[in-house]
Amino acid sequence: MVRSIFILILFFSSAFGNNVYTQNCISCHKDLSYSLQEIFMRYLSAYGGENNVKAGMLHYFIYPAKDISVMPKEFLEEEGIMNHGYIGEKNLQKSIDTYWELYKVKGRLK
Ligand code: HEC
Repeated sequence: MVRSIFILILFFSSAFGNNVYTQNCISCHKDLSYSLQEIFMRYLSAYGGENNVKAGMLHYFIYPAKDISVMPKEFLEEEGIMNHGYIGEKNLQKSIDTYWELYKVKGRLK
C-alpha cells in the first residue's frame, strides 16, 4: 500500500514536471531558429557537468544578460534577451530537470 502510494506520487510529480516543460518551454521554443536540443548542447559544452549546466541555466533565466548567454550574437539580436523569470523559480527548476533528463543521453553520445 505504502509502496503504491509512493509510486503514484512519483508518477504525478514527474507528470507535472513534464507539463510545465511542455506548456512553457516547448510551446514557445518550437518557433525559434535554434531547437531546444541545440541550445542544450551549447550549455553542455559551455558548462560541462549536470550541476553546472543546471545552475548556469537557472541563473540565466533569472538574471539574463547578453554577455553570459551561450547563444550566438546574431540569434540574440534577432530574438532579444528573454527573461524567463516570470515562469517562477520552482517551475523553472522542474523544467530544467526535465530538460536535462530529456537530452543528457544525446549529449553523451555526441
Ligand atoms: C515566451 C517564450 C519562451 C518561453 C516560455 C521559454 N523560452 Fe527559453 N528562450 C526564449 C527566447 C526568445 C530565447 C533566446 C533569447 C535568450 O537566449 O535570451 C530563449 C533562450 C533559452 C535558453 C538559452 C539561454 C541563453 O544562454 O541564452 C535556454 C536554455 C532556454 N531558453 C530554455 C527554456 C526552458 C527550459 C523553458 C521552460 C522553462 C523556456 N526556455 C521557456 C523564449 C522562451
